[in-house]
Amino acid sequence: MTPEATDAPHALEVFKEAMASLASGVAVVTGVDPDSGPCGMTVTSIASYSAKPPSVIVCVDESTRSYRGMTEGEYFAVHLLSEDQPDVARLFASKVDDKFEQCESVAGPHGLQLIADSLATLICRKSFVAKHGDHAIVIGTVVDGSVEDRQPLVYWRREFSGRR
Ligand SMILES: Cc1cc2nc3c(=O)[nH]c(=O)nc-3n(C[C@H](O)[C@H](O)[C@H](O)COP(=O)(O)O)c2cc1C
Repeated sequence: MTPEATDAPHALEVFKEAMASLASGVAVVTGVDPDSGPCGMTVTSIASYSAKPPSVIVCVDESTRSYRGMTEGEYFAVHLLSEDQPDVARLFASKVDDKFEQCESVAGPHGLQLIADSLATLICRKSFVAKHGDHAIVIGTVVDGSVEDRQPLVYWRREFSGRR
């Protein structure tokens, strides 16, 4: 493969198919938009970044309504979804206006809305934002959280592997 191959017309399709073949855990990130308040979206681009300090990385599309909350808010929450939460993943991947009323959620710290029954919840203080292309990389330092004894929701080849 030559460097020019990245400019080939099929590169986008190859990229999409390859990424669809990567099995991913599924998370909902929630933040606070400076104007409209609590926001949230489904993501698979979530990963551990470092242990010192304990940090996570998430990639956010600038076209999402949660973009400002995730890039301008001081805190965000990460909910790693459990196998019985594919409906929550679909809800937060949608554009409905009342996402938090259509699932079980509670008011958390820093104005964040927290999703109930997740596999793990991490409260993060935003520490770094890098914009590249049409996405931003957001790094957050974990300041609090909890982990439950549940199985994960997995996304692979455009399907959730959950139980519902
Ligand atoms: C399985 C799955 C994974 C997704 N991962 C991401 C992601 O990592 N980053 C992103 O910006 N959007 C991702 N999306 C798309 C957003 O969830 C979607 O655009 C959502 O409607 C955004 O909500 P909002 O506009 O209310 O913020 C994903 C969608 C699905 C179904």
